Amino acid sequence: MTLNNLKFVIADGVCTITINRPDKLNALNIETISELGLAIAEAEKDKKVIGIIITGEGPKAFVAGADIAEFSAFSLKEAKEMAKNGHRVFDSIENCTKPVIAAVNGFALGGGCELAMACHIRIASTNAKFGQPEISLGVIPGYGGTQRLTRLVGKARATEMLITGDAITADEARALGLVNYVTEPDQLLSRAMEILSKIAKKSPLATSKILSLVNVYYSKGKDGFQEEIDLFSGCFETNDFHEGVEAFLQKRLAKFEGK
Ligand code: COA
Repeated sequence: MTLNNLKFVIADGVCTITINRPDKLNALNIETISELGLAIAEAEKDKKVIGIIITGEGPKAFVAGADIAEFSAFSLKEAKEMAKNGHRVFDSIENCTKPVIAAVNGFALGGGCELAMACHIRIASTNAKFGQPEISLGVIPGYGGTQRLTRLVGKARATEMLITGDAITADEARALGLVNYVTEPDQLLSRAMEILSKIAKKSPLATSKILSLVNVYYSKGKDGFQEEIDLFSGCFETNDFHEGVEAFLQKRLAKFEGK
């Protein structure tokens, strides 16, 4: 896997993917989106990886949007291709069988806000700013922003953010439920690691079932009660379930193997 625009590091079971175009505030050009798709697929299939963190290089930006200079002369066909690819990659993040945390270290605008929203959990540093400023460019979000923002913060606030283009602070994003936690910038990655280390002690099979069930309701827009019955009962045929229950009854910590 050749990565020109990302850093990809696996350590202690955590894959950290860093968008690495700090001179352009980590703007997502076509190549970066495509590399992100490859990186997520690689981390998902690597058995050593229990969770993924996505962050941006430098102190200023997570991702300041799609690369405006690159798409400025796109035709309708190229624009459609760009949006389709972005959706494919962001859907692969949302549907990843391993937890993906966005560690938002600054501007998360346009495609940056959309990337953060595709992740399962968001942590923001105090200097983070979230927004969908596309309206100011005479365009609209193209990587899922109209849908994911509405689902996450509700119709009224999403509509306001989308049609004014105004950005909100990390604390405001926290109050809206758009981010789970706000931390000082130097604690951002350790907070994300802390959450993943908690998850690492749980059954990976059960974790992935929960991620997919939340998505049935959240992204497919339907209730997932039947799917829950099926996936719940499926747990009873896993080693993880027998180990978890046995460990509880024997008053010891469970050792899950993801089988
Ligand atoms: N696409 C392409 N390049 C971008 C970019 C984007 N989305 N966002 C920032 N950059 C580039 C700037 O062009 C500049 O490059 P240069 O030094 O070669 O001129 C560099 O990153 C630094 O950005 P700059 O604007 O000088 O930083 P700033 O601190 O003054 O402003 C922002 C920061 C985020 C407010 C501003 O860069 C901005 O508004 N970016 C666009 C946000 C946006 O509309 N995103 C949605 C796109 S659909």
